[in-house]
Amino acid sequence: MNGKVYCITSMKGGVGKTEVSLNLAAAIKKKTGKSVVVVDFDIPYGGVSQALAVDKDVTLTDWIKTNRIITKELSRSLVIETKWGFDIIPGVSSVYDISEITSETIKRIIGQLREFYDFVVIDSGVDFSEITKTALLNADKIIIVTTPSNVSVWNNHQYKEDLLTLGVDPVKVNLFLNQVPKKKQMDINIEKVIEIYEKSGVPIRTVGIAYYDDSIRKYRNKRQMIYIQKRKSDFAKAIDEILEEFGVTIMYGQDHKEPLFGSLKRLFGVAR
Ligand SMILES: Nc1ncnc2c1ncn2[C@@H]1O[C@H](COP(=O)(O)OP(=O)(O)OP(=O)(O)O)[C@@H](O)[C@H]1O
Ligand SMILES: [Mg+2]
Repeated sequence: MNGKVYCITSMKGGVGKTEVSLNLAAAIKKKTGKSVVVVDFDIPYGGVSQALAVDKDVTLTDWIKTNRIITKELSRSLVIETKWGFDIIPGVSSVYDISEITSETIKRIIGQLREFYDFVVIDSGVDFSEITKTALLNADKIIIVTTPSNVSVWNNHQYKEDLLTLGVDPVKVNLFLNQVPKKKQMDINIEKVIEIYEKSGVPIRTVGIAYYDDSIRKYRNKRQMIYIQKRKSDFAKAIDEILEEFGVTIMYGQDHKEPLFGSLKRLFGVAR
């Protein structure tokens, strides 16, 4: 198998990386039926197992420490299955495990996961550690999640430029604009954010836009997935847009969903 690796990242905490990662995994599973794993590379304090309230019976530490060749069969015992059909690998068990992680180890784990899964979703950290850099350099697609706040927009813009300097191919880098306030005034309006990322520096695409929606938080606190519970929600549609933009829907012959210009129109009556 040669699975696709999608890395969800941001220079800002709390913008929705874990929410996007989990719902994207649920969406891929639902739409394609293919195998999906979410791996928590947000080191040392990742949020994947916490978001789903699962015990960390196995974690990334087990993948780091194992010296044996990981067979498909062994890999089954090193992941946690979820009721949505995708598997997860929770973040490292202890902060002390970090010293054992090298970029070679991260490369090895990503390579192994590509073999075992059709899709690998990486929830990555808010840092520029070797681990995060290696994950980013080994991904097929990167999604930078930002909110329309001044700090988030501009720091993530700089982050994007830095990723390119690092050697990441700009066509792999995409933007997901999250937690857009419905009523409140935004620091920077939607069209302006898209323009900043499309026109200043090396251009990148916007693959999804989602409103701030309290029900996302509520579903999360109930350990549910908004993509599954509320298919017509704005967030679910934004996740569909990612699949559309990445060609996942087309690749597996699923029904056509609203592309990004549709979403802009849906949210703001803007046509591009
Ligand atoms: N569009 C949205 N509207 C409302 N709440 C949201 C939205 N997106 C995410 N959230 C909620 O915001 C909170 C933070 O999201 P999440 O944990 O995914 O962020 P994160 O970027 O992974 O944060 P961290 O840096 O702490 O890992 C969660 O409670 C999540 O359910
Ligand atoms: Mg998180």
